[in-house]
Amino acid sequence: MSAVYAIIEGSGFEPVNDPGSLHETPWGMPSAAIRTLARGRHEVLWLPRHGDLHTIPPHKINYRANLYALKDAGATAVIAFNTVGVITDRIQPGGIGLPHQVIDYTWGREHTYADGSADSVDHVEFDPPFSDGLRRALADAAAAGGIDLAKDGVYAATQGPRLETAAEIDRFDRDGADMVGMTGMPEAALAAELGLDYAIIAIAVNPAAGRSDGSIHADVARYSKAARAKAESLLDHFFGVGA
Ligand code: HPA
Repeated sequence: MSAVYAIIEGSGFEPVNDPGSLHETPWGMPSAAIRTLARGRHEVLWLPRHGDLHTIPPHKINYRANLYALKDAGATAVIAFNTVGVITDRIQPGGIGLPHQVIDYTWGREHTYADGSADSVDHVEFDPPFSDGLRRALADAAAAGGIDLAKDGVYAATQGPRLETAAEIDRFDRDGADMVGMTGMPEAALAAELGLDYAIIAIAVNPAAGRSDGSIHADVARYSKAARAKAESLLDHFFGVGA
């Protein structure tokens, strides 16, 4: 069976002109209706994780409903777009990357489907946290399209919505993290619980706190357009748009 892909989009991409279908789930409502996009030869499911109007902050996203709804709609693999701040030179501001590991610093989020209602507790394996096959396919598409990208890296997931302090970023650096974002967890772990392939395209929109002379917001304004364009181009090559 060939994969059915879903894209979970972060922020800043064009709204899709399609009402889509809203999937109520046992875990509540997802962030928005799921749309179906034609991408090259593929029909791709599309869900904006912050909602259609970008009003849902990272710690309030119903990650459980989002992943469940995508699986219910037929998805077998999820490509997630997540903006990140850059900690080490493994990934460059204005660039993109495919993290291979994650450290979870989030707290208080509904992070599992194992809520005690089943007959037994299933301890899902979560290493590697991201699908090697999907990461390889994305890296191959980038190579074929001549798109520069960081082939791996460690993603630190923070609670947000506030940005970090410089001391927190130094700590994540000592822990081995290369980039920091607010939405990779529990999304990746929930995908694992549901048996979905899952990979993040990290969109590096700023140097992390304390790693630049300017303000983070000014850096985001400076770097995000180039990073997003690379992420979009990678997706086009992955799905064979124009091929
Ligand atoms: N920190 C956390 N999340 C982010 C950042 C950051 O610097 N940039 C984009 N998402």
